[in-house]
Amino acid sequence: MKLTQFLLKNSSIPKQALVDRFSKFSPSPLSMKQFIDFGSANACEKTSFVFLRQELPVRLANIMKEIDFLPDKLLSTPSLQLLQSWYATSLMELVGFLENDPDDKTILKKFTETLVNVRNRHNNVVPTMAQGVVEYKEAFGSDPVTNQNVQYFLDRFYMSRISTRMLMNQHSLIFDGSANPAHPKHIGTIDPDCDVTEVVKETDEWEKSSRLCMLYICSHVWFGVILSCSSAKAPDQPLRIVYVPSHLYHMLFELFKNAMRATVETHEMALHLPPVKVRVSLGSEDLTIKISDRGGGVPLRKIERLFSYMYSTAPSPVDIDNSRNAPLAGFGYGLPISRLYAKYFQGDLQLYSMEGYGTSAVIYLKALSSDSVERLPVYNQSAIRHYQTSNEADDWCMPSKDPKKLGKHERRSQ
Ligand SMILES: Nc1ncnc2c1ncn2[C@@H]1O[C@H](COP(=O)(O)OP(=O)(O)OP(=O)(O)O)[C@@H](O)[C@H]1O
Ligand SMILES: [Mg+2]
Repeated sequence: MKLTQFLLKNSSIPKQALVDRFSKFSPSPLSMKQFIDFGSANACEKTSFVFLRQELPVRLANIMKEIDFLPDKLLSTPSLQLLQSWYATSLMELVGFLENDPDDKTILKKFTETLVNVRNRHNNVVPTMAQGVVEYKEAFGSDPVTNQNVQYFLDRFYMSRISTRMLMNQHSLIFDGSANPAHPKHIGTIDPDCDVTEVVKETDEWEKSSRLCMLYICSHVWFGVILSCSSAKAPDQPLRIVYVPSHLYHMLFELFKNAMRATVETHEMALHLPPVKVRVSLGSEDLTIKISDRGGGVPLRKIERLFSYMYSTAPSPVDIDNSRNAPLAGFGYGLPISRLYAKYFQGDLQLYSMEGYGTSAVIYLKALSSDSVERLPVYNQSAIRHYQTSNEADDWCMPSKDPKKLGKHERRSQ
């Protein structure tokens, strides 16, 4: 009997054995080209099935190993217990296909159904994890080492989730036999000809009519978005890249929401609000989108904190219920998760602010699909070392707060 069959049939073998086994493999990052090939005319469901039944357990097991490095008190919160049970169940379900015959059509159908189930089971992972972190912080406070470890972990955990959802969405959309009539040229979630300015316009339209936006904007006050585009190669041509429009939409939505909120809050009494300006530029390497507001800006000292999960606020139960419909709903995760979407295909998201004036948020994406390759966490010695660093003294002098010490030489701690 093969190892996996043995593990599955013998319930006394802990699931940990599966996690250990699959975490020994490194995830295999896919390029945009490979994603497109999986879904092109000669798309092969069998090949995709054989790849995913191994790759998904590997990605899940890699990140499950890192969950163990979280503080015990965080792991024991009901939210984290629930979340771990989802991961364990999904891993078991996927591993169940390892010995199946790829030529059996009913197996392929069952696999697609399982992917949809797994994806749905994990729908609320982000708010559930956020809830666990907030519960932990409220009960036990936070210290710099925990902050650093939780930040490091969550960036990797949410990135892993983005990647597994991408894989599951691609397979289920491409092979469930129902082409998307609204977007016949899309390959799963990928638009091989994604017109970035169109997505910017769509996001702006949707944002303005959304309930979230209405919370900030009074009926007599309105403001516009000014969009300008430039292309190094072909001026006047649409700015197109191979990309996942829903990812781009997510980032733009969050950045618009922040820009609009800052503008409205800074110009409370004004009848005309300064516009949010968007510039899109396509170069030979980068496709860059800059969203600039005049919403008063943020001091430099606080910029890094805006990307911190530990500084976020508690989501209300209403927000958790709505989280499936709105890209994000008040967890304070708008910036960090958007940055992960940008980084997923080797891009980035940065904030440049002038306190007293306004902020520019810049999204960098790869212009060439050959540069767009998944960025994935891998569980290895370097990752372990990150979790094991202790609270060492800073290697830059801290200004003394005690004036009596001025002029005296302080002893160095060994
Ligand atoms: N353009 C901006 N101008 C001024 N402050 C900003 C801007 N963008 C973000 N911020 C500050 O950064 C904080 C974090 O932003 P982020 O989008 O991550 O979370 P949030 O907006 O508080 O909540 P959520 O996005 O989940 O609804 C905001 O609360 C706001 O204080
Ligand atoms: Mg936000």
